[in-house]
Amino acid sequence: MELFQAIQQRRMVRSFSAKPIPGDTIDALISYARKAPSAGNTPGWAAITLTDTHSMSLFWDAVTDAEWRATSRRWNGLSKAPAAIVMLTNPINYTDRYSMPDKSSSGLGNPPHGDGESAWPVPYWFVDAGFASMLIMLGAQEAGLGALFLGNFRGEGRLKEVLGIPDPWRYAGTILLGYDDGNGHASPSIKNKRANLVFNGRWQEQ
Ligand SMILES: Cc1cc2nc3c(=O)[nH]c(=O)nc-3n(C[C@H](O)[C@H](O)[C@H](O)COP(=O)(O)O)c2cc1C
Repeated sequence: MELFQAIQQRRMVRSFSAKPIPGDTIDALISYARKAPSAGNTPGWAAITLTDTHSMSLFWDAVTDAEWRATSRRWNGLSKAPAAIVMLTNPINYTDRYSMPDKSSSGLGNPPHGDGESAWPVPYWFVDAGFASMLIMLGAQEAGLGALFLGNFRGEGRLKEVLGIPDPWRYAGTILLGYDDGNGHASPSIKNKRANLVFNGRWQEQ
């Protein structure tokens, strides 16, 4: 599949069939993510692949509650996703990297090189996890899979506990993966216009 086609066709999928995903497809998606750019070439992110029903149910129990599952019209379709990739990121990897001689003048390193995490106006650890996630989603499109990026950050504490994720790792989001069963309910977000504030040369008032 051409890149342009994958970009054009990708849409978040919110209803999956239970058909399993070949293990080597998940490996291929991770290999795409490894090609993502990262600030200072920091090895900043980590991923936990969930590929069996037990792991998936641990995930869902951590990030949703019983009341939501009982009332959400999406739950049935989401719950069948056979796999997920939990994306994690570590701010300390960035402050360590930016403490190194070629970056220490940035002021973004650990003391005494900089003020650490708080010195970063843009937290590149989340930006980089986003780049890696995007490559996974485009790879999923190429592989004929549906994907959904779930930003259910309120479940971070429980998810870290259940999956044994140590501090200072942070939860960036999860990419659900599976085959689209065609029964998805469109998100209300879809009605929003795509970003179109693109100017040539300088900002123009509307
Ligand atoms: C950072 C981020 C967080 C998102 N979180 C959720 C989520 O928790 N649940 C959900 O159904 N969709 C989520 N989405 C999907 C967006 O709603 C979706 O990308 C947007 O409506 C545009 O639709 P499209 O991706 O199908 O083109 C998220 C997307 C991003 C980029």
